[in-house]
Amino acid sequence: MARVRILLLGGTTEARELAPRLTALGFDVVSSLAGRVAEPVLPAGDVRIGGFGGSAGLAAYLRDEKVDAVVDATHPFAEHISANAYAAARDVGAHHLLLRRPGFILHPEFEVVPDVHHAAAAIEPGAHVFLTIGRQHVAAFAHVDARFLIRAIDPPTVLPHHHVLLLDRGPFALEDEVELMQRHGIDTLVTKDSGGSATAAKLDAAAQLGMRVIVIARPPVPEGADMIGEVEAAVDWAARLL
Ligand SMILES: NC(=O)c1ccc[n+]([C@@H]2O[C@H](COP(=O)([O-])OP(=O)(O)OC[C@H]3O[C@@H](n4cnc5c(N)ncnc54)[C@H](OP(=O)(O)O)[C@@H]3O)[C@@H](O)[C@H]2O)c1
Repeated sequence: MARVRILLLGGTTEARELAPRLTALGFDVVSSLAGRVAEPVLPAGDVRIGGFGGSAGLAAYLRDEKVDAVVDATHPFAEHISANAYAAARDVGAHHLLLRRPGFILHPEFEVVPDVHHAAAAIEPGAHVFLTIGRQHVAAFAHVDARFLIRAIDPPTVLPHHHVLLLDRGPFALEDEVELMQRHGIDTLVTKDSGGSATAAKLDAAAQLGMRVIVIARPPVPEGADMIGEVEAAVDWAARLL
């Protein structure tokens, strides 16, 4: 009998944890990456890289590859692929699960804004900002009158005039984050509510140092999607497909 085929949309720690777990259960797993990062940490097993061409392209892929189930373990801010995955799975009648890690624990004094543009507008002129929002939306801060320490895995294409670029990948420890922010005289942290233990320490460090913290809220998830927050729960969900 043919094995149950799962397309695992990844680019996250959770997806890398999940791939071997699903394979061990006997699923035929293909992990998918967008191809954004120059040297991605690859999951175990079969991997395909690159976009599908919107939800129609993804639906065609699901049909052609006879995919039975889509597990969307992409990053909480990867809203386009998540919307497409839900639509495409419904279109072809494949099972669908959204694995979304819980958000960060936010202190009441943190300021939560809806998007990068609101975050850019909220920065005080002359602030010393630690910007950790990934590479893609740094351009929104290009004209902000402030000094930036920008940390990302790969270099952003558009950068603010006054910046120091730090290319690094988590996990990051609390004492290192405190030392980094002190060394650069940071008074404002701008980050996304990505969640996950690997990058949570910057928020604790910022709270400890009493600085201003601006957090960009998550985009909405596809309405009606079956959603869970932990890898273990995704394994249980998949096991019920067998
Ligand atoms: N956004 C973040 O902050 C962030 C942080 C860490 C990791 N990531 C990872 O980086 C990838 C891209 O994120 P994004 O914010 O650019 O996503 P996005 O805005 O939702 O996606 C834009 C387009 O990229 C393609 N794509 C995205 N994820 C894909 C995947 N896993 N496999 C194949 N194609 C994919 C799709 O192209 P087509 O329409 O052509 O199919 C999608 O429409 C995701 O895999 C995500 O998990 C994102």
